[in-house]
Amino acid sequence: MKHPSIAVLAGDGIGPEVMAQVLRVLHHVCPQFNTKHGLVGGAAFTTHQCHFPQDTQSLIDDCDAVLFGSVGGPIDSADEPQWKNCEINSILALRNHLKLAINIRPAKFYSALRDISPIKNKRLEGCDEIIILRELLGDIYFGEKQAYTEEGIMIAEDTARYDENQIALVAHQAFKTATRRKQHVVSVDKANVLETSKLWRKTFQQVATGYPAIKLTHMLVDNCAMQLILNPAQFDVIATSNLFGDILSDAASALPGSLGMMPSASFNQQGFGLYEPSGGSAPDITGLDKANPMAQMLSVTMMLRHSFNKTKEADAIEQAIIKTLEKGFRTVDIMQQDKTEVGTIQFTDEVLRQIKL
Ligand code: IPM
Ligand code: MG
Repeated sequence: MKHPSIAVLAGDGIGPEVMAQVLRVLHHVCPQFNTKHGLVGGAAFTTHQCHFPQDTQSLIDDCDAVLFGSVGGPIDSADEPQWKNCEINSILALRNHLKLAINIRPAKFYSALRDISPIKNKRLEGCDEIIILRELLGDIYFGEKQAYTEEGIMIAEDTARYDENQIALVAHQAFKTATRRKQHVVSVDKANVLETSKLWRKTFQQVATGYPAIKLTHMLVDNCAMQLILNPAQFDVIATSNLFGDILSDAASALPGSLGMMPSASFNQQGFGLYEPSGGSAPDITGLDKANPMAQMLSVTMMLRHSFNKTKEADAIEQAIIKTLEKGFRTVDIMQQDKTEVGTIQFTDEVLRQIKL
């Protein structure tokens, strides 16, 4: 039998140091998996003068899943060739190349970390996990853009665009996910202002007729941002467009304590998956052994479940992470009084120690 192969694209910033640790965990639970490394982002630019080289494209097309780290450089260097348009040319190009239309971002609450939430414990009662489903190939991210000068005034334009099929895909995914969970979808839009949002809402209403057991609530995005903080327990599955999903998923990730714990999975219509932390390359802590590896580890568990049906191995990693937290080990982003602060490597050592297969 052919063993699964995974394209590993660690990218920039904390990507490589976190990936190196997480691969120790993956190889421990699935020693038979082949991992093949490719360059992407600023890391690719230095040798290939582009952010998503042909070699990397061919590597991905030959693999069964992609494990992605992070891309992008320091904000102050955004105009240097290595970093200019890096995110657009790498991760957005990759999403488009693989036609990854659906993105799943779970914000999971761990009982060992209840006290680090910025939200009062009382408000978190009933919260165990909020799933954000984000459309990933449309909206203002992929519409036409231009920057020009007219009569001495600089002007910039980004166009938001959706067709009903793109929206219906997310809607079906949302209703199916809700069927397995709490039978409730909150669809988030800005239908009081935007045409794309009016189409979003209409399409969700149409698709909902095929799922009579599921309750559908519409919520405006500004209200949703507030509700996430005031009353997070009302949410289970949130479905939204590309830009709103980008913003709301960062907000939701803070409720359990840190963006450093939020994984993500992106799929195309054939079920091919790319797995990456929801956060970025964090240049400010790069190379300092400070990054929380949980988001990347949990991205591996999503990969094991969704791409390879390896539930036992995924559960083993997740339980080991929980044990590590219960034993009081914390990276700096989730550090609490009287706990043991550890770096990326030592946190991973502890997780490895706790894995029971
Ligand atoms: C994310 C990131 C990306 C996005 C950036 C790096 C282009 O913020 O995956 O959330 O906006 O989608
Ligand atoms: Mg983001």
